Parts: sequence; C-alpha cells; structure tokens
Amino acid sequence: MDWGTYKTLRVEQDGAVLLVTVDRPAALNALAGQVVEDLWELTGVLAGLDEGWPVRGVVLTGAGEKSFVAGADIVEMSAMDPDTAEVYGRRMQQVTLRLEALPVPVIAAVNGFALGGGCELAMACDFIYASANASFGQPEVALGLVPGFGGSVRLQRRVGIGMARELIYTGRRITAAEAHRIGLVNAVFADVPSLLEGARATVAEIAGKAPTAVANAKRALNAIADLGVEDGLDEEVRSFREAFGTEDSVVGRKAFVEKRAPVFPGR
Ligand code: HXC
Repeated sequence: MDWGTYKTLRVEQDGAVLLVTVDRPAALNALAGQVVEDLWELTGVLAGLDEGWPVRGVVLTGAGEKSFVAGADIVEMSAMDPDTAEVYGRRMQQVTLRLEALPVPVIAAVNGFALGGGCELAMACDFIYASANASFGQPEVALGLVPGFGGSVRLQRRVGIGMARELIYTGRRITAAEAHRIGLVNAVFADVPSLLEGARATVAEIAGKAPTAVANAKRALNAIADLGVEDGLDEEVRSFREAFGTEDSVVGRKAFVEKRAPVFPGR
C-alpha cells in the first residue's frame, strides 16, 4: 500500500499497525504549517482503509524520546495576523475531524510533551497511551492565546468541565500519572519502547475482531457523544442493526455456534 511521502511525517507499516511519527525533533515536533498539510494529506489517504483493511489501527507518536508534539509552531505563529491564524486553526481542526472519522482506531502514543496543539492532536485520537516521562497541558494562556485545535471542545469531554477549566485557565503542565488519574490517559508505560509495544499490542488485539464492527462502533461512539440519551439510543440501535447486516457478523455468530475461531471477511 502506498501511504504517500511526507516532509514531516514518517509512515511505517508493521503488520496490522500503521505507525505515524511526527518528525521535527529539532522543534520538539511542533505543528508547523507543513506538518498540518502533511497530516491533512495522510488522513485523506487513510480515509479509504475500509477497502481491504490493509491495517487495523494507527499509532500516532512523535520523533525522539522527549516530545510528542510541543504544540502549534510558535515561531511561525509569531508572524501571523488573526486572519492567517484562523485559516491555520481551521485547517488543523479539519485534520482532527478526519482522524475521528477514520474507519480504524487511532491510538496516540504520547512519548513526551503533549502541549497545546499537541494535547489537542492526542485528544482527536481514539484514546491515549503515555510513557512515564510524558506531560500534558494547554499552555496557550501563557502566550495570550486560547486553545485553537479543538481543546476547548475535547478536553472537557475527556476530563469534565471543572478539570478542563482549571487546566486551560492555569496553563499548568501535568504528568503522565496525573493525566492517567483524571482519565485523559488510558495507560502509562515505563518508557517509550514499551509505550510503542503496548500500543501495537492493543492494535493486534483489535485486529482479531470484526473490522466492520470496530469501524461501526467508532462511528457510533463519535456520533453519540453529541446526543442525549434518547437520540443516543436511536443511534445505537441504527448502528446495531447495521452490524447485523454485515457478513462479518454472520461469520462471527456462526463461528461462535460452531465453537471455532471466526475469519472475518471485513465486509
Ligand atoms: C516552535 C518550539 C516549540 C513550539 C519548542 N520549540 N516548542 N518551536 N514551536 N511550540 C523549539 C524551541 O524553540 C527550541 O528550538 C527547541 O524546540 C527545543 O525546545 P527548548 O525550549 O529548548 O526545550 P526545553 O527547555 O526542554 O523546553 C521544552 C518545552 C518548551 C517546555 C516544551 O519548548 C516550551 O514551552 N515550548 C512551547 C510549548 C507551548 O507553549 N505550546 C503551545 C503552543 S500554542 P531551538 O532552535 O532554540 O533549539 C498552541 C495553540 C494551538 O499550541 C492553537 C493555535 C490556533
């Protein structure tokens, strides 16, 4: 599969896993305009993953062992006027929406600083794993700015409104352990190699399940996040019914009854 070539991203397939590394270590992998454009292009390619399921999960990380992504590129931003900044913010927001719409799960493997736009990028992934040295924060107020890549929306959904307010108003940086305690991070690993190994293992676990069902569950969970109970239940039954119509579900149910492992066709 041709994943494309990118100036600021490394894209490597290893079996069912696509490892995507933001690769600007000299600037702690900050989201320069070029990174945003590369992410835009790559997420466009990945939108078609449900055709043949060449990989079953994406692991997103940063180059090196110091930083995941240290936010928007402050050097570039210092030359922007509000109109240009709006275009930049909007573009990166669109990248986050594309990540959420991918038919496979995306795991953020946070290997160091996840600050500002870096924390926002991680929160656009399905869930977050971290190495013990990782730290998280929305430090925009220290620059006279506010979150602009979805943090105002997604942080409160992940950790609740009170904690989101405190983190955004103070700009405070929190450790991986604290991020785990408040539910921002699912699991903390001792170091970066074990973090990547943990993320790979979870994708391998997902790869044993029905691809259409995982994609369906992701779509439904995202849609339901915006709904009340009744509309959420309607959405759930719609997605449940859709799952019943897939060959994967016929194969899965039959294999259970016949006491053997299913081989999912991915349709
Ligand atoms: C551009 C950055 C950068 C960034 C680090 N660098 N963060 N360049 N944009 N966000 C560069 C530094 O300038 C430096 O380059 C090199 O990376 C190493 O960084 P140091 O500061 O020397 O490292 P250290 O002392 O370890 O401090 C690490 C750090 C600090 C705590 C992460 O770099 C920092 O506070 N960075 C900014 C974090 C931040 O405020 N992010 C939020 C941005 S606002 P040189 O060339 O000197 O070696 C945002 C808004 C999103 O994300 C919404 C916009 C619409």
